[in-house]
Amino acid sequence: MVNVNLLTFSVLSLIGFCSVVADNPCVKGPPVPKNAAECCVTPFLVEPSAFMACHSKWIGQTKRQMALEGIPRGCCVAECVMNSTKLYSDGKIDRDALTKLYLGSTKSMAPEWKQITLDAIDGCFKMADSIKDEIEAGAKLTPAFDGEQICHPISGTILACMGMTLFAECPSKLFTVNDDCNKLKSYHSKCPFL
Ligand SMILES: *[C@@H]1O[C@H](CO)[C@@H](O)[C@H](O)[C@H]1NC(C)=O
Repeated sequence: MVNVNLLTFSVLSLIGFCSVVADNPCVKGPPVPKNAAECCVTPFLVEPSAFMACHSKWIGQTKRQMALEGIPRGCCVAECVMNSTKLYSDGKIDRDALTKLYLGSTKSMAPEWKQITLDAIDGCFKMADSIKDEIEAGAKLTPAFDGEQICHPISGTILACMGMTLFAECPSKLFTVNDDCNKLKSYHSKCPFL
């Protein structure tokens, strides 16, 4: 069983994977200009190009939201990614469909990823369930600035947890050991990929 508990605190403090408070170590971004995929290629939900399309569309709003205090806000980058695969509707993620997509991406990967991925999905959905009151509160927020779109925090919670868990659980024989990768591993044990 993947140890998702370790991640619960950090994901909790980053519900929705977008709102982070100013003194949060994640605000500055990764400590080294290296792509995590150069350290370990992990299973994925969508192709990088689909992620980037959502990233460019929503990152401006997300950066403004990062400066806001209070109940963590949902992440529209994540909701946009979930929407692009039709996994999200009405505050819920289709777990079976999500499992299919992640497992599909493991087909061309080392066999150990299959079980790691299933355990990560299990752990992340349990974690999200354990913080559902805060997730619901985040979903009910009203815009804090003109044009702010409120996204439901469930997508960011699940995506952040999955990204961090899979990277943390990368089998050692598949992880590139060097200074930069070790720094990235330590950073992403606390901070989501965004
Ligand atoms: C995702 O889809 C829902 C409709 O199911 C929509 O209300 C929401 O605005 C969409 N979110 C984003 C970020 O595009």
